[in-house]
Parts: sequence; C-alpha cells; structure tokens
Amino acid sequence: MKFSSALGLLALVGGTSASSNTIAAQSQLAPSQNITVVPNTFLIELQSDFHPGLQPKEKLAKTAPGSNAGYHVRQQYNSTEHFFGVSVAFDQDVDLATLKKTAGVKNAWSVTVVPRPVPYQQLTGSPNSKDTSKDKRDTLPNYRGSERVNEPLAMAGVDKLHAQGIKGKGVQIAIIDTGVDYNHPSLGGGFGPGHKIALGYDFVGDDFTGFNSPVPDPDPLATCVGGEHGTHTAGIVGMEDPENEGFGLVGVAPEATIAAYRVFGCNNGGTTNDVIIAAMLRAAQDGADVVSMSFGGGNGWELDDPFNDVVTQLVNSGVAVVAAIGNVGIEGLYWPQSPGLSHDALSVASVENGVFPVAYTAHDDQQNALDYISVFPATNLGRQQIYTLGTGLGVPPDPTISSGCDTSVWAALQSATNRGTINWNNTILLVSVTESCVSLFNNWGEAAAIGVQTMMVYVADDEQLNASPLDGVQILYLNHENSQKLIDIFDNLPADQTSYYLTFDGDKVKDVPNKLGATVDAFSSYGPTVEMTLVPKISSPGGNILSTWPLEGGGYALLSGTSMATPFIAGSAALLKSQQPHLGVSELYARLMATAKPLKEFGLPLVASTARQGGGLVDAYAAVHADTVISPSEIDLRDSASPAPQKITITNQSKGKKTYQIRHVPAAFTRVYYNYLAGGPDIPRNGSIYPLEIDASAKFSRSSLILEAGQSATFEAQITPQEDKWPYSMPVYAGFVEVFSGNETYSIPYIGVPTSRAEVGPIMVNATPPGSLSSPAVYKFQITNPGGQATKPNIDTYNLTGSPDDALPLIYISTGLPSRLVRLELVSANTSFVPSIYGFDPNVAIDYRLPAIATQSGYLGEPSYGIISASTIDPVSANSPIQQGLTFNLFVSGLIESPTLTSDNNTSIKLVSGDYRPLFRALRWNGDESNPADYQSWLGPVLRLNVTSS
Ligand SMILES: *[C@@H]1O[C@H](CO)[C@@H](O)[C@H](O)[C@H]1NC(C)=O
Ligand SMILES: *[C@@H]1O[C@H](CO)[C@@H](O)[C@H](O)[C@H]1NC(C)=O
Ligand SMILES: *[C@@H]1O[C@H](CO)[C@@H](O)[C@H](O)[C@H]1NC(C)=O
Ligand SMILES: *[C@@H]1O[C@H](CO)[C@@H](O)[C@H](O)[C@H]1NC(C)=O
Ligand SMILES: *[C@@H]1O[C@H](CO)[C@@H](O)[C@H](O)[C@H]1NC(C)=O
Repeated sequence: MKFSSALGLLALVGGTSASSNTIAAQSQLAPSQNITVVPNTFLIELQSDFHPGLQPKEKLAKTAPGSNAGYHVRQQYNSTEHFFGVSVAFDQDVDLATLKKTAGVKNAWSVTVVPRPVPYQQLTGSPNSKDTSKDKRDTLPNYRGSERVNEPLAMAGVDKLHAQGIKGKGVQIAIIDTGVDYNHPSLGGGFGPGHKIALGYDFVGDDFTGFNSPVPDPDPLATCVGGEHGTHTAGIVGMEDPENEGFGLVGVAPEATIAAYRVFGCNNGGTTNDVIIAAMLRAAQDGADVVSMSFGGGNGWELDDPFNDVVTQLVNSGVAVVAAIGNVGIEGLYWPQSPGLSHDALSVASVENGVFPVAYTAHDDQQNALDYISVFPATNLGRQQIYTLGTGLGVPPDPTISSGCDTSVWAALQSATNRGTINWNNTILLVSVTESCVSLFNNWGEAAAIGVQTMMVYVADDEQLNASPLDGVQILYLNHENSQKLIDIFDNLPADQTSYYLTFDGDKVKDVPNKLGATVDAFSSYGPTVEMTLVPKISSPGGNILSTWPLEGGGYALLSGTSMATPFIAGSAALLKSQQPHLGVSELYARLMATAKPLKEFGLPLVASTARQGGGLVDAYAAVHADTVISPSEIDLRDSASPAPQKITITNQSKGKKTYQIRHVPAAFTRVYYNYLAGGPDIPRNGSIYPLEIDASAKFSRSSLILEAGQSATFEAQITPQEDKWPYSMPVYAGFVEVFSGNETYSIPYIGVPTSRAEVGPIMVNATPPGSLSSPAVYKFQITNPGGQATKPNIDTYNLTGSPDDALPLIYISTGLPSRLVRLELVSANTSFVPSIYGFDPNVAIDYRLPAIATQSGYLGEPSYGIISASTIDPVSANSPIQQGLTFNLFVSGLIESPTLTSDNNTSIKLVSGDYRPLFRALRWNGDESNPADYQSWLGPVLRLNVTSS
C-alpha cells in the first residue's frame, strides 16, 4: 500500500475535478519554507554536571554515541553562560529521540539549513558619471539633490534624535549576515579597533553553501557578488556618506560600534543553524548589546528550535536580539520565520519607504521631463529612442502585449532586430507591468538574448513596481505618476510622428512619491505563530531602502525586504540603549513597541492587523523620550470566544502629574482565503488575506487615570471578539489598547482567534473544502482516470489486482486547523471504536468478512492493520513510518494502491481480502498525545478489498 502525499495527490485530482482556482488557493498554504535537515548531524547541549570541567569535545567523547561512533565535531560551544555543547556529524545513523535521552545530553536538535536572505526586490547599477575614471575603491560618485534620501529616518523620528546628537555612541551592534565590505568609505573604510566596523569574524569563507565545510578566518570582509546583503544591512545601521561622496546617506545609529559576523558564503545555498549559533555566542562574548539577524526559515510553528534557547540565553544576559519576520507575505497568516519567532526575539515587519529615494530626470525633445527610478543616473545613455514592446510607438491598449505576457511579441521583436530595424545601442525597450502576468521576469527574460540593453518599465499602479535586476539589461523604472505622464505624452503625439526620444541629461537626485509609503509591505510575512503568539512585534522601513553595497558592485543599492527593516530596529534599539543604558532587554522591547505608531491598511479605512505590523511603525524619538511605562507590551488572547480580562499597568515616570485616557483602536480582522463552510459568505479572493471590519469590543475598568510623578496604577481590559462561524478560514482579530496623555500616545497590540481550536477540532466538518470532493469521505480513484468517483454508503468493494484500471479506495480528509499529530490507518471493520465523526450509518448491520490476518496492537489501544499515512510536527526517528512536517489546512489523502501497510515499528504488513475500516485521528489543539479523548476522530465506511495482486 502506498501513501500518496497530500499535494501530490491533489495535483492528480486537480487535473480533472477541482478547479485550478481552488488548487492555487491550496498550494498557497503548502509549506513553501521546508526545513532541510542535515542527515545525522546534531546540535548537542551537554549537561554541566556530566564530567564537569571538560571542554565540550571531551565531554562528548564520554557520552555513548561519542565513545562509539565515528564522528567529527563541527562547532564547539563552551559558553557556560549561554550554551555549552557541540555540533557533530556522525558517520552512521543516529536517532534524535535516542540522543536526547542519552546520559550527559541536556538537549539535542537536528542541524538544519537556513536559506540565505533574498531581498524581495533589489536595484543596483554602476555609477556611470564623469567619476568613473577614479578608482572606485577609494572614491565614490557624488550625487546630491534630494532632501528625502534619508526619508526612512524621518518616518521613525530618528532624524530628530540625530539633531539632538543621539547617534548610538557606546552601544555595540552585532550584524550576523553575509559579511561586509568595510572598505566602503561610508562604512569607515577599514576594519578593527577605532573603525566603524570595529570587530567581527568570518565563520564560513567565500565558498560555504551550508552543505560543505566552512573555512573560517578572522576577517568578515565580503566583496563578492552574492555576499553583498551584509553591506546593505550594515549601512542601514551605521553608514555615513562622506561630505563629497555618495548621496548624503546616514544610518540609524552612525556612532554605534558595529561587529560583523559572517555566516553566509558568496554563492548559492545557505548556512546552517550550528554556524549561526556559533556567531550569536561569539557576538555575546564580544560584548554586543544588540544582535541583528536578517534571515530565517521554518514554517510558523514555535518548534523545539535551538534558536529559541540561544536567543533566550542571550536576552537573559542583557543582549537584545532583533530578527526579520520574513518575506513570505504571499503565504498569508501564520508564516513567521525562525529565529524571528523565537520567544525572546524582537521580530520585525517591513514598511514601505515614503518615497522612492533615488530618481533622475530625462527630457524629451519637447523638454517634457520624466523622472525615472534608478540608483545612479543613466547619463551614459545620452539620447535614446523609446520603442514600445509590441507596437514600436504608442502605448498599446492591450497590456498583455506591452508587458510581454503574450510571447509572440518577442518573436516579432527578434525579427525586427534581425532585419536591422532596431539598433539597441540607442534604443530603449518600453515595457509595462500587468497583474495577469505573474512571473514578470520570465516574460522579460528574452530581452537580453535579443540584444536589448536598456528597458524602461511603466506601471498602472505603484503596487506593481517591483524594482529588480534582469541579467545583462539596465532597467529604469517609472512610478505610477511618471508612467501616467508618459502614457499621456504618447496618447497626444501627432499622428505623423514615428519616433520618440528621451535624453538622459539629469544627474541631480530627486525623490518621487510612493503611493504605498508608510504602509506595511505586501511581502512582509504575517504572524502570529501557529501557537497564536503575537509576531511580528514591530515594524520599520524596509521597502525601497537605499543603502551601501560593495564598491565593486557600484557602492549603493535599493533593496526591499524585512532584511532591511531589521537593522533599522537594531539601530533604533541602540539609540534607546545609548540614552537609557539601565534598561533591561524586555524593557527596551516594551518601550519600542508601546511608542510605535499603528499604521493603516493600504487603500482601506482600517488599521492593519497586528499580525502584520505588531506594535506598528517604530518611533525612535518617542521611545527615547517616553516617560510613561506600560506593561505588558503585548496581549496574546489565544483562541477563545470570550477571553479573560487583562490587567494593564501604567507607570508615570515623569516629574509631574499626568492624566491618561484609555481607548480601544480595533484593527483589521483577517481570514485566510475560503471560509470552508457551506452557506457561509462568499468572500472574494484577493491574495490570500481578507482584511475585514469585524471589530472586537473592549471594555475598560477605567477610561482615564490620574497619576502623580512616580505613581503606577492598573486597569482591566475586557476584549471580546464578535461571534465567528468560519473557524476553518483561520480568522484572527486584532487591535490596540491605546493610552494617551496630551501629545504622548502608547499602544499595546493585541491578537486573538475568536473560536476555541480545541472545541472545533482539526477535521473540517460541515464545510466545503476547495475542489469538488467533500471531506471526510472515501472515493474510488483510478490511476488511469483520476478524479474520484463517489462510493456507495456504508460499504463498497475494491479490487486490488495491480492493474492501473483498478478503482482504488481514496480516503480524503481535510484538516482546517493545526494539529501536531495526525494518523490514518486501517482497523477492524467490526471495531467498537466510538469516533467523533461517523463516516457511515452505525445502525446499518453488515455481514462482515473479516480478513484472515491478525491486527497489530495499534495506537492508544485501538488494534490496527497498519498505517496508511501519519505525520507530526515533532522530530521523528530516521526509520519511523510517521513523517515530520505537518502544517495546517492540509489534505490528508490516503490512496490504497497496493496491499501493503506499515506498522508503528516500521514492519511491512501484507493485507489479504476482507473488510476494513479507515480510522483517522488528529490531536486537538493543546491536546495530550497520550490521551485518546484529546483526539478528534473519523471512522469510515467498510472497504471490502478483493486482493489478488501481490
Ligand atoms: C519543499 O518541499 C517540496 C516537496 O519535497 C518541494 O516540492 C518544494 O519545492 C520545496 N520548497 C522549497 C521552497 O524548497
Ligand atoms: C572555551 O574555549 C576557549 C578556547 O579554547 C578557552 O580559552 C576558554 O577558557 C574556554 N571556556 C570555558 C568556559 O571552558
Ligand atoms: C553597438 O555598439 C557596439 C559597441 O560599441 C558596437 O560594436 C556595435 O557595432 C554597435 N551596433 C550598432 C548596430 O551600431
Ligand atoms: C508634547 O508636548 C510637550 C509639552 O507641551 C512638548 O514639550 C513636546 O515637544 C511635545 N512633543 C511633541 C512630539 O510634539
Ligand atoms: C472486481 O472483480 C470482479 C471479478 O473480476 C468483478 O466482477 C467486479 O466487477 C470487480 N469489481 C470492481 C469494483 O471493479
């Protein structure tokens, strides 16, 4: 018997019976961020009282696997304060569960691959002004003009702190990233004591991919393409463009000391969690006050993850840990990354820059000005003819043509090029962006091959502006305003005009408006964690951020991602720490969160969910100058229709009396795609998230408070969500409790789920899952004619002859809510098991033909013929029939393809002809694995198998 994995089968079924639309809805929830485990390689934390006094490696040698097995130690961690242990690769199979129980071992985890950080978009370029003759290593071009190149600082009140001389002096920020090009003049032009990048370490070397051996050295320099990310994040923390170089850019904490730890190589691949942990421990040992980590992976669960422990240890020793929430906003709710979701990390969402910070002006022959977005001015281009994809001149009415979605236009362009009609040395290809064209760059990929050297991209909306590079082609972007301007010019060209030219004469930096400015970026991952803890905690500018880049790559780049937002918060924390050195880490987080400013949803009159923005956009000025402390810093209401009242304490730390008012600010209610309930509202699909106005209500025990200097008082907040009938749409309600006094405002974000997950249960019942198959149910499925035909109620017959024409039993079950453990197996047809849900009429008598094989002892007392499919979120041993990797909104579909099942101890069980029933059990939320009552179960109709195949 074979188990067809959920998605594999869905794809099969999708071919004939489910609409492509619903398949897309499903696949958005598939775990796109797989956890890649390095085989037989573990992080082992060792017990302090086991052979005390020995170094980690020697201690390992005293443990059972350490004394027997062939192995090599990858990393040693001998910080008694933070983490004492090793990472080790064994030469043969070692079982994690057994390892955890070994004498001397305090805890153990698999070594996993952490993907390298990939910005959501990036725009680079080479400076091509008169300055190019100069040695790029010593001098940067000098482009000035815009007042707003440092707009992100203004958005977060950092400019006002700088004006007060508050620049992070005395605080050490560790950046764990791809290394840094410290030769950049804006980053101090050197490395070591006295320099901006004062210390650091390279844990991996240029060639590390996560799968080969790291080659460490003491120098975190990275000048390679592929290793540039850390130069950008370092700039956001601390850059200072010299007087006559660059753009006049300033980082958030330009007087802080930066320590750069390199954990990624130059090329593809990633790094491993054991290397990152080595860097985190080194950062703490070197005296970091704040650690900034712009990378992550994982699948949204608060797993038993080694990052959790190390982050907590760092925080307990006074080190703030700031980490990106991730760039998978497309996945919808419940997709934060690790280490961002670690219990004690300050996780960061990305907000769009208020402007596109670098644009330059080109003029047409009539002196109409057009501002294009580019890191450097395209003055090298001189005068260029503009050629619209598909039509040559004039903007075609059909965007599928000008966008290149309709691939026939590329063939036409190729033949025009071949005929010599177009000389790409002095012609720019004008293309548009259209929403229907999903993979933009696939559609433009032909341009370089045809010989196009420069493209200009116009958009119908700023939302579509995804400034990214295309190999071999220089791209100039127009924002919505300038796109419209160009379209109008084309519309009004005289009928006899056959060409249109732009001259790239401007090299003065301009900024152009950004309609999405100061809203949370669509790419920024949503929280909360699957366990419903509020993440991200806070937001900061991360969309369209101009910062430093390796000199060999041009010196500057415009990037978007939570990677950019993270160092901004690290810098903000440093500014606060420099002024309030006595603050503990949790106080530091609380101040940043409480003084952050809640943002609206783009284009909607709703405050964005706290699942997107946490406490809101950081306000570093308010954080530094706050003289009121509110506790707690967040309210996690978990899953309940009537959550318990919450106590909130206000402390007046000012020198005078203050009057505080308390009010409720509801934020958007969000659902994931379909509501999965027959008769429910038909919510139109738009991305995977629906921000709705379904506000919770809030009652406060006090609506105002008067506090003398130094006084504290506590009030109660009773937050109650509206009743919700669509639990499988994974609803999340959110908002803020706001406390204000004069012009000071503090807000405490809250988040909750309006129904009890445990009561609802993971199995979707009375619901319409995507596709035409209902669930839970058994279907007949033919490999040669997939689709799933309905079966007879109570009992149906299946021939297992081994022929592809066999109508095989397909057990189809949707789980709508998360479950840590699900099992689908075959049990005796005459079982007395009482399920939560009957898949047949228990009052119909059946004359059973019981198979002539014995049942196994089975799981939790229910005898079984074996497992069809089982999975868990927890680690499993190497030879377990249970798979690791369960998430929610999952289809568990068991197709019985050949008559062999697997027992719990992984032996093969041969089925013979006879009657069987499928039994599905899913552990309810917060359930105890060993308690049968904590499972929701479904017992299916009789499967009468005629087995003639072997
Ligand atoms: C995750 O794993 C699945 C199944 O092995 C694979 O199809 C998918 O491409 C992987 N996703 C990523 C992001 O690696
Ligand atoms: C950790 O290892 C280093 C280098 O081998 C050594 O100098 C240090 O004393 C060790 N620390 C502890 C706590 O064992
Ligand atoms: C384009 O420029 C290149 C390099 O300057 C030159 O070799 C080529 O002949 C030019 N092509 C045309 C069609 O002018
Ligand atoms: C808030 O009000 C105080 C007292 O009136 C004033 O000193 C302070 O500058 C104000 N702060 C802001 C941000 O407007
Ligand atoms: C199973 O095989 C028998 C004998 O060949 C045949 O009569 C019967 O129709 C088959 N049943 C199904 C469900 O295919």
